[in-house]
Amino acid sequence: MTLILAHRGYAAEYPENTLLAFKEAEKAGADGLELDVQMTKDGELVVIHDEKVDRTTDGSGMVKDFNFKDLRQLDARFKFSSLTGKQQIPALEEVLEWLAGTRLKCNIELKNTIMPYEGMEEKVINMVRKYDLTERIIISSFNHYSIVHSYMIAPEIEIAPLLSEGLYMPWVYAQSIRATGFHPHWRAAPDEIIKASIESGIEVRPYTVNKDTELERLYRVNCSAVITDDPAKAFRIRGNIKQA
Ligand code: G3P
Ligand code: CA
Repeated sequence: MTLILAHRGYAAEYPENTLLAFKEAEKAGADGLELDVQMTKDGELVVIHDEKVDRTTDGSGMVKDFNFKDLRQLDARFKFSSLTGKQQIPALEEVLEWLAGTRLKCNIELKNTIMPYEGMEEKVINMVRKYDLTERIIISSFNHYSIVHSYMIAPEIEIAPLLSEGLYMPWVYAQSIRATGFHPHWRAAPDEIIKASIESGIEVRPYTVNKDTELERLYRVNCSAVITDDPAKAFRIRGNIKQA
């Protein structure tokens, strides 16, 4: 069965990358989450997509220039005026502590292509091990050097390269870096690539799949997982499609 991974949590309806969005994704029927990790000035791993806090919070500036306690003052509920209550930018630790009590999988995307965030891989891995989550975590990144580094430190944790463009035989590339899957942009994941990859033992989890027709296509081809902003819709559509 094609798994549903909620992109930044249930981002279609709730403030992205917040505990609220993660908890609502679970309630909506997601099998797992996708989240983004950056690092503060004092070395705390935090769950936020952009290098800057401006788009998703009421603050401004670079994550790397905030100390954790100051970053926690910001409200990530920001653009969701219909919701009440402050939503803080979560520490990765807070999310993993909650995740440990669920059955969810979690794709941790290391956001270290623009900021190098020295030591990020070691910190993420130590935390994953601390909460005994190694079997439920997939580490991905557009920075493929970083995921190879992660694999060298922690071969027991799955890695998956993010691919924004089509690649020739991406399953061969994935195998060459010891990845067990890859995460292509949905436009870079035609049926033939998905089938050939899965036949070679490599999972394919396209992002960010929000259109009904794309979800249907990926379910029909028995894709390994979809990464979507709308886990409730993805769950409903999956229920209507017969999968092998
Ligand atoms: O992990 C898939 C997807 O999240 C990658 O793109 O920009 O949404 O982090 P982005
Ligand atoms: Ca992401």
